[in-house]
Amino acid sequence: MCGIVGYIGPRAAAPLLVEGLRNLEYRGYDSAGVALLDGGTLSVRKRVGRLSNLEDALATEPASGRLGIGHTRWATHGEPSEANSHPHLDSRNRIAVVHNGIIENYAELREELKARGHVFRSETDTEVIPRLIEEELRAAPGDFAEALRRAIGRLRGAFALGVITADAPEALFAVREGSPLIVGLGEGETFIASDVPAVLRHVRRAIYLRDGEMAEITPDRVRVRRLDGTEVRPDTQNVDLNPEAAERAGFETFMLKEIHEQPRVIRQLLKTYVGPDDRPRFESLGLSPDYFQILRRVMIVSCGTAYHAGIYGRLLFENLTGLAAEADLGSEFRYRGPRIEKDTLVIAVSQSGETADTLASVRLARRKKCKILSICNVRGSSLARESDAVLFTDAGPEIGVASTKAYTAQLTSFALLAIHVGLLREELDPARAAELIAGLRAVPDAIHYVLDRKEAIRAVADKHHSGPSSMYLGRKFNFPTALEGALKNKEISYQHAEGYAAGELKHGPIALINEYLPVVCVCTRTRDEVYEKTLSNLKEVEARHGRIIAVANDGDTTVAGLAEDTLYVPEVPEELSPIVNVVTLQLLAYYAAQARGTDIDKPRNLAKSVTVE
Ligand code: M6R
Repeated sequence: MCGIVGYIGPRAAAPLLVEGLRNLEYRGYDSAGVALLDGGTLSVRKRVGRLSNLEDALATEPASGRLGIGHTRWATHGEPSEANSHPHLDSRNRIAVVHNGIIENYAELREELKARGHVFRSETDTEVIPRLIEEELRAAPGDFAEALRRAIGRLRGAFALGVITADAPEALFAVREGSPLIVGLGEGETFIASDVPAVLRHVRRAIYLRDGEMAEITPDRVRVRRLDGTEVRPDTQNVDLNPEAAERAGFETFMLKEIHEQPRVIRQLLKTYVGPDDRPRFESLGLSPDYFQILRRVMIVSCGTAYHAGIYGRLLFENLTGLAAEADLGSEFRYRGPRIEKDTLVIAVSQSGETADTLASVRLARRKKCKILSICNVRGSSLARESDAVLFTDAGPEIGVASTKAYTAQLTSFALLAIHVGLLREELDPARAAELIAGLRAVPDAIHYVLDRKEAIRAVADKHHSGPSSMYLGRKFNFPTALEGALKNKEISYQHAEGYAAGELKHGPIALINEYLPVVCVCTRTRDEVYEKTLSNLKEVEARHGRIIAVANDGDTTVAGLAEDTLYVPEVPEELSPIVNVVTLQLLAYYAAQARGTDIDKPRNLAKSVTVE
């Protein structure tokens, strides 16, 4: 999605804005622009395509100023073009605005402004904003912050704004209403950004603006007000991300680095959430043991990869806690008229904590008086703040657009949580719980085993990547693994891929099988009641000459005898096998993408954080 950065301080703003935008590239964009103020002179540069195009424009035609705003745009209203790129200006070219999110009532505002003589230069919803401010300023000249506040009062939707104006050339304005924005505090300089990595190198403390707040930033002060005009004390927090963590650390892509970080992330989660008695400890969640006794149902909501984690969570809750559990997509949940009451715990899963559909589901659940527990990777995110309890996955910044380490961290979190609730409710035998905790402790090494075999995975990807399509199969705990493997493949290699529950094969998808179709099948066997059944599914594929790529346990000659290629993984308890098996599928997708020559960290059309519905 779009990215915002802004700067005010003693240094030249343009290079800092471009650096910030570069750090936000991973969010996905199709054009970029900056606006700088030098005294009363406002300069704007915009370019379609890569950020380097904007850099070239700034090199050819420099823009000076120690105050500025920048933006990477991911088109929603109007095609990617210079006219539609941000910043957008008022009719006098004195106010510049960058915007993330959507203005829902822009069409009516546009008509109103047109009737007052405004001639719009873009097709965007954003352009109404500088023009509304201009109108407010015309009605009551003088106080720009007031005019801005009144103009915002006319907007409906979810948005974050950065604003500068030649009418107040010593101030940077920031507004948050439903879309994330922070004010980053450096040494004698201040930044704004839609995401902390944009300004990580320069700030150690940040104000996480809340919805309905605006900041007026001058060189020596940050003044935060609610949009109703009341002053608020800014909520300043330490920024605890290590800048080095956001670097690639020698890996060719962020995605490959993040795949390799998974053993460390899981070890850290175990360290945080397993007590010295080898049982999960979740006192910090703030949900009392009694609460889990009265609970009747768990409803998990999430999107994309996090939805696949949700399906896994549902299976674990059903198997280990005796609770009824459901998993739904954030984008569907709110429209299906969910029958949830206060005895339902809603678990929202999100790497970013800013996914609009997941947030909307959480807000609906809150109106229905449910408690919200989130499994989230970003401290200070909207989801974390709107939840009653948060299980932080603390996987570190995930920069690759395709989610990897956040996913296995979500699975591990679900495993710990379900064991915890199962023990509390006396539905899970303590001896089995101890086996599962021991199994979790073995997972990081099992993932290392897979990582060590990446050349074998690469060879299989090289062999099968060129076809138009592929199919992924798995059952029970590894049904979400199949869905996630297919999603990874289509996201980064652009090869069409479908994930199915293997038992569904004969209900339709079997028609696709021929001697060209790669069929990736997860068929690991530990204590697995569906192992034999999955073998039967493999035989159905073999009989139709499908090209089977199996993920199997070490030494499984039965599966290897059916498959064209077998990728081996170590045995771990059935319930935990998805955390290991998916790493093979992440790497398979990765090397297929590499062979197909795609932009792995920034796949086309995708955004890291989907902050619009
Ligand atoms: O930040 P979230 O976990 O809420 O994001 C949800 C999805 O948008 C995300 O998982 C998406 O599917 C990724 N591109 C998956 O790789």
